[in-house]
Amino acid sequence: MSAQIIDGKAIAQKVRSGLAEEVAALQAKTGVQPHLAAVLVGDDPASAVYVRNKQRACEQTGIGSTLHRLPAETTQDELLQLVHQLNNDETVHGILCQLPLPEQIDELAILDAVTPLKDVDAFHPENVGLIVQGRPRFLPCTPHGVQQMLIESGTEIAGKHAVVLGRSEIVGKPMALLLMQKGAAANATVTVCHSRTQNLAEITRTADILIAAIGKPEFVTAEMVKPGATVIDVGTNRVGEKKLVGDVAFDDVKEVAGAISPVPGGVGPMTITMLLKNTLLAARLAAGE
Ligand code: GUN
Repeated sequence: MSAQIIDGKAIAQKVRSGLAEEVAALQAKTGVQPHLAAVLVGDDPASAVYVRNKQRACEQTGIGSTLHRLPAETTQDELLQLVHQLNNDETVHGILCQLPLPEQIDELAILDAVTPLKDVDAFHPENVGLIVQGRPRFLPCTPHGVQQMLIESGTEIAGKHAVVLGRSEIVGKPMALLLMQKGAAANATVTVCHSRTQNLAEITRTADILIAAIGKPEFVTAEMVKPGATVIDVGTNRVGEKKLVGDVAFDDVKEVAGAISPVPGGVGPMTITMLLKNTLLAARLAAGE
């Protein structure tokens, strides 16, 4: 039997309508319109598309946004100066520096410079620390989006074995943290697998929830998946000119899994939605709400 398809686009639309109402209510009560400042350095076409999608989503939800586009040869000092300016701008509630940054710029130095109260990506060490301690301020966008997809698909999480493929700072590590936490939509037993993991398929086959975030096109095959498991595909791999594929061999795995998210139309729209949620929260914190 073919798996339930977890439609990230549809779930994202539903969450965004709720957010639009909350944004309007905050503005009516306090006069504050949440505002996201996006910083894009260089001309990586994929990054430009991601940032444009984020701005469109802001517009759709009534959140203001400004794009700061800087040339590829921007120096670290110039970028730091912009970050400081945005930190001090009371009309800006969220700051997003689109990654990757050009190689002459130390990414960590930039992410560390964003004031934690405007760090809607949840990349600042203070916000990461709060997540580790189970008392988050902002939740990391992609892992939070995945968690919402698990909830919406009716996947049981507590006590289940969740296997996270990939240990990146943006997805794998914080994903594991969210699922192992005490609390709702959590309490899973979590295993993190990575490029040095031995007997990978043996481990993935024991997963009730399998989350793939390794950036390898169609790496997860049907033989690696336990029948009935929920499979969430975080991968966005460009093959050829236009085609986008995930980390999961969707057509084969959907015949084994109980539920599966597609690429595109899966995690991507949810990541953006959680960014909007964080921007609203940042505006609330600034407004003392
Ligand atoms: N590049 C790829 N994913 C992300 C993300 O979630 N946030 C930012 N700022 N850059 C990214």
